[in-house]
Amino acid sequence: MLINKPAGIPSSEITPPEIYRQRRRFIREAAALTAAGVSTALLPAATQAAMKFPQLRKSRYSLTDEQPTSYKNITSYNNFYEFGTGKSDPAERAGKLRTFPWSVAIEGEIKKPAVYQLEDLLKHHPLEERIYRLRCVEAWSMVVPWVGFSLRDVIRRVEPTSRAKYVQFTTLYDPEQMPGQRPGLLGSGLDWPYVEGLRLDEAMHPLAILAVGLYGEVLPNQSGAPIRLVVPWKYGFKSIKSIVQIRFVEKQPLTTWEKANPREYGFYSNVNPKVDHPRWSQATERRIGADSLFSPRRKTLLFNGYADQVASLYTGMDLKKYF
Ligand code: MTE
Repeated sequence: MLINKPAGIPSSEITPPEIYRQRRRFIREAAALTAAGVSTALLPAATQAAMKFPQLRKSRYSLTDEQPTSYKNITSYNNFYEFGTGKSDPAERAGKLRTFPWSVAIEGEIKKPAVYQLEDLLKHHPLEERIYRLRCVEAWSMVVPWVGFSLRDVIRRVEPTSRAKYVQFTTLYDPEQMPGQRPGLLGSGLDWPYVEGLRLDEAMHPLAILAVGLYGEVLPNQSGAPIRLVVPWKYGFKSIKSIVQIRFVEKQPLTTWEKANPREYGFYSNVNPKVDHPRWSQATERRIGADSLFSPRRKTLLFNGYADQVASLYTGMDLKKYF
């Protein structure tokens, strides 16, 4: 979110240095994208305005009128274990991640496998703003104005074969840039790279998006730059960040969290107030930035409030068994 500043004061004086450096890099990246012909997606880069996506259409899939969480909260309270397990670690440590150039390999059971440069994906998929609730398995939530496009449109373009039943997503593996992937003090105990998965019909649901921005701006690194998944009816950990590979497969992928602790984390991970985590209740949640420790807790809604849209994906399934 850009804030008007009085003329003559350099941004470096009013912006924390790490954010400032990140912004300068966005500008260089935006310039490179513009040179690559992506003028529709990003403005010419001379000022900080280059970080803004122009002319974003509002999506009809923004199904909430709740107040979005502040930019500051969305970008300073994060889970991105590649940079440490603390909530402020990603904002403090992800700044140096190089997010340009960036490519995503789309492969497996499809007719058109290819390695796509991010700017090519952006060229083919018009961006829109989608305001979604994000509910973390740790029982907190946010409301985020994402900038992104339908995963469904990408899937249609690559033409899955009849053997494609699931979609597997993988984050960058680069311990040099991602200190949480190195054995040592920051260790989360997770197996790298981070892997997530969806059933093909879930991935084809119009609410599932690939996000490249928030609050009208390019995603800051801690939020999963340059491209991440957002699946609003599932716990936040399904929304994998900094994706480098999308693979269409026949068998259900083994996801990072299921591998780490299959008793606690299932493949589906749909938000469900009636299915508790073995160590805590999922019936209520705390809204980051809006609720204090003394506020009454909010009731968690089935499928995070998107039941009318997605419940039919799970007809006949025992959601306690397929958690
Ligand atoms: N993706 C990767 N690659 N690594 C992670 O540690 N954390 C997940 C998910 N995606 C994670 C990830 C979890 S637990 C949550 S709750 C969301 O990202 C948090 O997204 P946010 O930081 O943008 O709120």
